[in-house]
Amino acid sequence: MTTTPVVAIDGPAGSGKSTIAKLLAERLNWSFLDTGAMYRAVTALALRQGIEPQDTLAIAAVAANARIETIPFISINDLDVTIEIRQPAVNHAVSIIAANPMVRAAMVERQREWSVRQPVGTVVEGRDIGTVVFPDALLKVFLTASVEERSRRRGDETAASIQRRDDIDSNRDHSPLRADAGAVVIDTTDKDIASVIEEIVQCLNLR
Ligand code: DC
Repeated sequence: MTTTPVVAIDGPAGSGKSTIAKLLAERLNWSFLDTGAMYRAVTALALRQGIEPQDTLAIAAVAANARIETIPFISINDLDVTIEIRQPAVNHAVSIIAANPMVRAAMVERQREWSVRQPVGTVVEGRDIGTVVFPDALLKVFLTASVEERSRRRGDETAASIQRRDDIDSNRDHSPLRADAGAVVIDTTDKDIASVIEEIVQCLNLR
């Protein structure tokens, strides 16, 4: 599917995906993509436009026409939404919008296009990276952690909100959050960031 080597990092909210994926990319000197930020950017723009998250066709049109950048900051149609995408309104609506198969199709296409344009390799984090977006990834990692620890890490989001999002993400019909059969599963509850990165680098060295 792609000739660029990919490390796919999936897992629920607060499992450490973003921090670990970003640092791993820096260490390897590979490009990094936060795909959750893409779903959040679509959500932020739809909310600004007063579109209901349940309005699947209107949301799909926003996603299909959106220009999204995640580096150096998160923007959609040149609008900087870096701060906005972490607000409670977006936390609340994003998993409904991410369950929309038309939105997913538009995002997956962009993620694949982005990856092949990168010079060396990519570290991509999300929920469906190993299962759907890059089934041929060089390495697939699935991070987990207890819900208490995950809500502690996401200090700005309550445990109930995280749990609700995980339930929607895990039980949706299209590309639900789950570990791919070929993924290395790492429980990060009692591990520090450096040791998780070390574990991933060790796995990568064995490929
Ligand atoms: O990782 P995050 O919390 O920023 O993700 C925001 C939401 O987007 C999350 O509720 C699930 C969804 N998401 C997804 O469905 N697929 C992805 N590849 C990434 C995120």
